[in-house]
Formats: sequence, structure tokens, C-alpha cells
Amino acid sequence: MLKVLHHPLITHKLTQMRQKDTGTKDFRQNLDEIAGLMAYEITRDVPTRKVEIVTPVAPCVSEEMAKEIVLVPILRAGLGMVNGIRNLIPTAKVGHIGLYRDEETLEPHEYFAKFPSNLPDSVVMVLDPMLATGGSASAAIDMIKKRGATVIKLICLVGAPEGVKRIEEDHPDVDIYLAALDEKLNEHGYIVPGLGDAGDRIFGTK
Ligand code: PRP
Ligand code: URA
Repeated sequence: MLKVLHHPLITHKLTQMRQKDTGTKDFRQNLDEIAGLMAYEITRDVPTRKVEIVTPVAPCVSEEMAKEIVLVPILRAGLGMVNGIRNLIPTAKVGHIGLYRDEETLEPHEYFAKFPSNLPDSVVMVLDPMLATGGSASAAIDMIKKRGATVIKLICLVGAPEGVKRIEEDHPDVDIYLAALDEKLNEHGYIVPGLGDAGDRIFGTK
């Protein structure tokens, strides 16, 4: 399932991020805020369970989330989405996947992986601002499936049709959430119009 989260706040902030003159500080702040807004929408279907509690006034039956949330940012750019979501879900555990995309072949290469132990019982949110060819996200999902994750949501800001198709083919059980579905990839594998190299813009490395 692909869901593009159309919301004026998300669109407005993404417009700021897309502009080439937006600097690192504003780019990061908007990314943080969009990630939080997206997480609010995406967690709508997380199951809840009844709990007996006591308020200062009376005992009552209320509800709490019945599943733990695990965030798995794809390094580096996915790191820029963690804080915005953790502000909403402070109990979320965080795994990390290090992947970089070879600039010539566009193939992903793994260099780091570390996960909390509760993947099989959790809602696992894979985070990466950019879904281009889909190679990185598909490899990341393979890695967490091998560790037993079954409820997986892929959360990206900007996606290309090519990347969406790749994930739908490789992982039809994974829900994909985007803030925008862009037009295409260019000859260098960049999303058009996109927002450029997300990792470099977050960390100021170019
Ligand atoms: C970027 C981006 C994704 C990947 C998307 O990372 O953050 O992980 O490329 O491309 P794909 O869908 O074609 O695989 P990059 O490899 O540039 O690493 P970085 O985040 O460290 O800059
Ligand atoms: N990675 C990025 O950071 N940007 C793109 O447009 C494609 C891949």
C-alpha cells in the first residue's frame, strides 16, 4: 500500500526543504517537523489495549498502545527523521542500518547494522528521506525481515515512481508512506525535482 500524506503543513515545510538556498539548519528543522507530522498520521492504526488505571478522581478503564515502536533510520539521511518522531513516541527504540549508494552502479552497500531485540513484536518504521531506485530501502527491509520483523512501515519524504515500484515488487507486505511522490529519476539516479542529496544537506558535507 502506498499512501501520500497530503497536508498543508507537510507540503509547506517540504517546499522550504526543496529550495536550493535553504541552509542546513532550516533543512534539518523542517525534516524533523515533517517526520513528526507523518508519524502522527502513520500511527493511527497502531492497536491499543484496555488498562485499568486510577485518576486523582476515580478508577477507570483507559487505553494504551499495545505494540512497541522501533525506528530504523537508514544512515546517514534517515537519522534526520529520528528526533521528530521520538518527540512524539519517547519510548520508541532505535535500530540503525548503515547503507551507502555507489554513485556509479546505484547499488546499496551495507556498512553497519544494530537492532533492538524486540523487532518481531514491534511496529518497525524504516526511515529515509529519499526513495530513489528503492535499492537501499529494499535492502534495509530484507535485513530487518531476517531479524524477524513482520509489521514494517517505510517512511520517506520524497519518492520516485521507480522506487515505489521496486518496494511494491520486493516487499508487497510493507506499507509505504511519502510526503510527496515526484516525477522521475534523472540519469544520476537523483529524484526530480526532489531536494538534492539529503545526507549532504542534513550534515553540511557539500
Ligand atoms: C541516499 C538516501 C537513500 C538512498 C536512496 O543515501 O538517503 O538512503 O540514497 O537511493 P536509492 O533509493 O536509489 O537506494 P546515500 O547513499 O546518498 O547515503 P547518505 O545518506 O550517507 O548520504
Ligand atoms: N539520494 C538522495 O539523497 N537524493 C536523491 O535524489 C536520490 C538519492
